Amino acid sequence: MTETERIAKAYRELESVAAARYDLRNRGNQEVLAERRTLTRSLLDRAGWIPFGERRVLEVGCGTGSELAWLLTLGAAPDHLTGVDLVPDRITAARYAYPQFEFHVGNAERLDFAESTFDLVMAITVFSSILDRSMAAGVASEIVRVLRPGGGLLWYDFRYNSPANVNVRGVTARRVRELFPQLDGRLHTVTVIPPLVRRLGPLTPIAYPVLALAPPLRSHLLGVLNKPA
Ligand SMILES: C[S@@+](CC[C@H](N)C(=O)[O-])C[C@H]1O[C@@H](n2cnc3c(N)ncnc32)[C@H](O)[C@@H]1O
Repeated sequence: MTETERIAKAYRELESVAAARYDLRNRGNQEVLAERRTLTRSLLDRAGWIPFGERRVLEVGCGTGSELAWLLTLGAAPDHLTGVDLVPDRITAARYAYPQFEFHVGNAERLDFAESTFDLVMAITVFSSILDRSMAAGVASEIVRVLRPGGGLLWYDFRYNSPANVNVRGVTARRVRELFPQLDGRLHTVTVIPPLVRRLGPLTPIAYPVLALAPPLRSHLLGVLNKPA
């Protein structure tokens, strides 16, 4: 099986459990998303990205497009949002949900865009899905190629391996730096280990901020990494 086939198979299998796992009626999931959105907005704002206006954005591994859609709340122009994913069914769902965005089915190892096309590229829980190091290096180099000088990579992914899922692998800060030696910027630890917070129930609003004070419990990295102008 090729890496592309493995990833497509993993996402077909995940389909049956994903709706329950990421259900936003779960208070832990709500808290995880709210915390990430708040920090992302504040990082983008501090870097002068808001409102997005005419800036062009690409999401690699965009899934069904909901992360791109969130950028509308930050003032992005719908016809400047582009997503690429290698699973055709995910792109079909994305096109249906967000017909005004541009979506492509494809492997982000070969992006069909000229260099310096995008102001911002987003990689949100995509590198953890890629176990093959040469594919990961290829996707990273394509991201840097299509990013304009002075542009940014919005990174969010988990840094620990998941004992319950052999199809993903945590991406440490050191590995992010190996993948993107040309980019600078700070990575923040965020997101209390999701399987733990999903069990907190009504205690979530009190317990989440307390647990978040312990750095080892923060399982993800989030940051905007800049391509020098
Ligand atoms: C965990 S999902 C995240 C989806 C989306 N970023 C989000 O946060 O909602 C990871 C996605 O990356 C896609 N993916 C993995 N490797 C890829 C590659 N080489 N090229 C394009 N998409 C890829 C998978 O098909 C999957 O849809």
